[in-house]
Amino acid sequence: MLIHRSIISSSPLLLKPISLPPNPKPLKPKTLTISSSFSFSSTKPSLSISDSDLLSRGFVLHSSASSLNLDDLNTVFVRVGFPRRDPAKIRKALDHTPSLLWIEHAKTRKPVAFARATGDGVFNAIIWDVVVDPSYQGFGLGKAVMERLIRELLDRGISNIALYAEPKVLGFYRPLGFSADPDGIRGMVYSMKQQQRKRN
Ligand SMILES: CC(C)(COP(=O)(O)OP(=O)(O)OC[C@H]1O[C@@H](n2cnc3c(N)ncnc32)[C@H](O)[C@@H]1OP(=O)(O)O)[C@@H](O)C(=O)NCCC(=O)NCCS
Repeated sequence: MLIHRSIISSSPLLLKPISLPPNPKPLKPKTLTISSSFSFSSTKPSLSISDSDLLSRGFVLHSSASSLNLDDLNTVFVRVGFPRRDPAKIRKALDHTPSLLWIEHAKTRKPVAFARATGDGVFNAIIWDVVVDPSYQGFGLGKAVMERLIRELLDRGISNIALYAEPKVLGFYRPLGFSADPDGIRGMVYSMKQQQRKRN
């Protein structure tokens, strides 16, 4: 079930978009290799930018996928190097995603930042699909989405939060409270490729 809690109004009226660079450069495709985790007892991350400041810069926060255009989301995925996915499968995945956040650029009405978390609703959550459109990277939107997603999970009492991170984004996740191999614990992922190689 999706959470239908709006952080702020979706009205794009009276918004002043910040100026952003033209000609975004999509990143190259990549694989996710490293897992990080975040085990929290009480401290919640503070917000580096308030909802109202985001809004005043023309960015609208959403915590429900109901108004999210999946083709536009797919476009962001592709632009950061993720594979384009079947929208029907994305919809199904989102229907099984209890926590998600995305940011709409009010001027274009397009999603520019997205992150979601799945889990058991009590102990554990895994964060997936953390993306910021390349044209909008470096403005604090990735951090804004992650801070709120972490807060929401902690508010629900979920303190064991994990994610997969490419080596080059470890520096993005660390200040948010994630560490690789905490207490020597290593993440393991079932490898279809390895299994296929064994069979052949
Ligand atoms: C990683 C990503 C989500 C970051 O989003 P972003 O909006 O550009 O990041 P922010 O502007 O919010 O940056 C927040 C902070 O992290 C830092 N940061 C951002 N990307 C970083 C990186 N790759 N390595 C180290 N630090 C990074 C910023 O300098 C900033 O530091 P500050 O708070 O001291 O100013 C974005 O670059 C992206 O979508 N990348 C492609 C997809 C991807 O790799 N997703 C992660 C899946 S593993």
